[in-house]
Amino acid sequence: MAKRPQQLLSRAKIREFIMKDYKEVAEIWEKVGLAAKSESTKDVFIEQQKVAKDLFLVYEIDKKVVGTVIGGWDGWRAWIYRIAVDPKHQRNGIASKLIAEVTRRLSAKGGKKFRALIVSDNTASKSMFKSLGFSIHENILMVAKNGDCC
Ligand SMILES: CC(C)(COP(=O)(O)OP(=O)(O)OC[C@H]1O[C@@H](n2cnc3c(N)ncnc32)[C@H](O)[C@@H]1OP(=O)(O)O)[C@@H](O)C(=O)NCCC(=O)NCCS
Repeated sequence: MAKRPQQLLSRAKIREFIMKDYKEVAEIWEKVGLAAKSESTKDVFIEQQKVAKDLFLVYEIDKKVVGTVIGGWDGWRAWIYRIAVDPKHQRNGIASKLIAEVTRRLSAKGGKKFRALIVSDNTASKSMFKSLGFSIHENILMVAKNGDCC
């Protein structure tokens, strides 16, 4: 018998990252070209967990991680990092849902302004943030020390 929509919906959920997800997350980041290998080591994930466990979220379907987002809160600005969706699952609204949830959590901590860093030729990301009501600030440059920019 065909599955009813409610059953299909219950196969997908947003939850906090746990260390067991580490390989699947690193794999997605590698697939979409988001992470330098040095940023995907187990130790890096363990450190991140110590800082803000409740802001590292994954989207899972049938117990498989297909999307990620990390929120950053410094008491002043709220940041959105590592928004990534497995190419097989893109254009299904997954990133939009992850951003809505991380934004809700950042707001609960006091965040009012939300920001993300985007490489200037990343049209998918620019278009997605625009579709969610973010404005693009072409006049801002980022400076970085000790490594790649992102
Ligand atoms: C950017 C990214 C996270 C979007 O994920 P997604 O789950 O496909 O996004 P959504 O389905 O929520 O898209 C919402 C809207 O954003 C826009 N959008 C998303 N991807 C787009 C694309 N490739 N081209 C144009 N517009 C796009 C559309 O308006 C879309 O709505 P629609 O599908 O109804 O037209 C995904 O493409 C990705 O993982 N890219 C590689 C990693 C990356 O660059 N991350 C951003 C770092 S700043």
